[in-house]
Amino acid sequence: MNRRRFVRTLGSSSVAMMVGLHAPRLWAQPPKELPINCAPPSHGAPKPITFDTAAPIMPRKSVWDLTRMELDRLNAAYQALRDLTTKDPNDPRGWMQQANVHCFNCSGGYDPSNVEIHGSWWFLPWHRCYLHVHERILAKLIGDPSFRLPYWDWDTYPSRAILPPPYVPPGSLYDAYRGATPTDVIPSDITGPAAMSTVLGTQTTSGFMGQLSDPPNNQYFPGALESSPHGPVHLWTGWPGSVGGTDPEPVGCSYPNTPGGPPVDQSSNGCLDMGVLATAAQDPVFFAHHSNIDRLWDVWLGMPGSQGNPPDSDWTSQTFMFYDENADWISISIADVIDANEQQNLRYVYAPPQATLAPMMLEAAPTEVPRRRTTLRALRPLTVDGDEAATAVGTTPHTRTVAIPDEHRTNLRTFAAARGASRRRYVLHIDGFTLPPNEGTIVKVFVNEPNPATATSHSGSFVGVFSVVASGPHHQHPVVRNARFEIRPATAARIVMADELTVTIVPVLPNGRPPRRSSLTYKKIYLSVE
Ligand code: C2O
Repeated sequence: MNRRRFVRTLGSSSVAMMVGLHAPRLWAQPPKELPINCAPPSHGAPKPITFDTAAPIMPRKSVWDLTRMELDRLNAAYQALRDLTTKDPNDPRGWMQQANVHCFNCSGGYDPSNVEIHGSWWFLPWHRCYLHVHERILAKLIGDPSFRLPYWDWDTYPSRAILPPPYVPPGSLYDAYRGATPTDVIPSDITGPAAMSTVLGTQTTSGFMGQLSDPPNNQYFPGALESSPHGPVHLWTGWPGSVGGTDPEPVGCSYPNTPGGPPVDQSSNGCLDMGVLATAAQDPVFFAHHSNIDRLWDVWLGMPGSQGNPPDSDWTSQTFMFYDENADWISISIADVIDANEQQNLRYVYAPPQATLAPMMLEAAPTEVPRRRTTLRALRPLTVDGDEAATAVGTTPHTRTVAIPDEHRTNLRTFAAARGASRRRYVLHIDGFTLPPNEGTIVKVFVNEPNPATATSHSGSFVGVFSVVASGPHHQHPVVRNARFEIRPATAARIVMADELTVTIVPVLPNGRPPRRSSLTYKKIYLSVE
């Protein structure tokens, strides 16, 4: 393979990092900055943000729907941001400082024990705030208060499940540290209609948004949208093994966890920018990806059966800190950016995609018509694999089966017959998914599917996708995540019919193929009524 290598010395730690890249992707790219210490420039106490409520309310559009003028403006804005870093690397508004905001909020250089906005209910609101500040900085740099970010709608048309063309040619929107090439397509089992209907059909708040994390105890509960498609699209974009390519797999970046660690060949480890949280925001497409995630949060709130945002004041009163467009250290609360405040304070609305084709239709599952109200019995969880010891998932489908006890059989039958019109519901838990901090993973989870494989289509047996995006070089402890999958009535019916519960975890690469290596383990699988 034809590769060039850079050697770079990082700060005083003299960690030599060798970064190899595919020759065609090199262009004129500066040597790679790997953020080891990504703390923000020092600051005092934050002041509450002042929203620019005089600014016009403008659409955030699909990248595909931008006019020529809007595309030029987008390019100019990111160029100005990059220029700011060149002029003054310490300006907190500049390109690299902006990217490092994401890095220091994934429990890295900022406060190793407490800041982690992934893997919990902070995920959606924190990224919304980040996008807003980013958008204001870009708008100010080009002197255009009507500037809004575009979104990358990989879910609306099959033709959009590719790198958005404006981000591909060398220019301010281009990133050389990308894995996916312009001809790669995101597998439809990640962003296609069946996958999207499962994610957007998630009804509970905790299931979709995630739950409160407990960083000191390394307990994290990502929501369905964060798990997928959010994570897999990161890994797909940041994976050097393009579809059909021969590159090694994304099963671990050789980031040294300690200064003085081994040198890094970034091309051989699946850890190009978008594939690692610490560097993801160094790719401009990150912000288009996250605009789409942010848009889908709004879409979910409008879905039938959606239970909405957490009502907890612990959630709404939480604040996040950023440097704003005036280089002031400010705080934004979640209450500032949800419900009507999303539009009033943040001054955008998501414009639906404007293409002439009909967007892909969500599949029928979320609109199942309730038959009659019923109440499930609050039974003890049904353990599928509960020894708490770390069990390796491996590289091929991993299956566990348990017989259905009488009381669950009756309950499941009630649930299936009621088509979900029940206050309680069945949730499949896989607790303690664990990975070294330098690895990413994707697994599909099936229930009572006789022979699931990476290519198995999503039907009643498919319950969801779980993923982890590698954290980066500053993480010290393993990444631990508790996954939950809401069971649909159709899936409950399958379990009743088989009279046993079979759970299969299918490891899959971002291109849809099976991996050759995996370090993923889990602790417990159980089905609960909640
Ligand atoms: Cu903060 Cu897409 O991750």
